[in-house]
Amino acid sequence: MEREIRIYPDEVLKKEAQRVEEFNAELKELVEDMFDTMYKRGGVGLAANQVGVLKRVFILDLNSGKERQGEEKLIFVNPEIIHSEGEVVAEEGCLSLPGLWKKVKRAAKVVIRAQDLEGKEFQMEAEGLLARALQHELDHLNGIIFIDRLSPLQRRLALEKYKKLKKKYEKKLAGGRR
Ligand code: NI
Repeated sequence: MEREIRIYPDEVLKKEAQRVEEFNAELKELVEDMFDTMYKRGGVGLAANQVGVLKRVFILDLNSGKERQGEEKLIFVNPEIIHSEGEVVAEEGCLSLPGLWKKVKRAAKVVIRAQDLEGKEFQMEAEGLLARALQHELDHLNGIIFIDRLSPLQRRLALEKYKKLKKKYEKKLAGGRR
């Protein structure tokens, strides 16, 4: 079931999410709903904060919106980046800041450790878009959004642009509900 996506500056996006202790039906339902919500918006990643739930869970599907959507659903519970190296700058967007794209510096390669829906631990090495997405989503769980990674000047310019984009987005939403 689709849930409402929280849009910046919603306070929940600035809060740190809490560790998941129980791997129960509620957690599975949350993750299912997050996939429904993400696919509906054509995003490749979504953190629980973005649907207003402060739990350390995020999901990814790099094929979102493409033919192979749903074939490689990635779920990360209680994730931690245990190694990162290199540096790469590329454009990033976020479903919580609709329409805004900015170049952000990230580690080029990361190793992440997380748990799956059953609580089983796993590790994954990533580079390219996957590495970028992992870092972006893990930031959400710590209350950090991608514009917080910009220089103060770039962040201010991004926020000015976002203000205009947000007005357009709200108009579109209102139109859709009529
Ligand atoms: Ni995001």
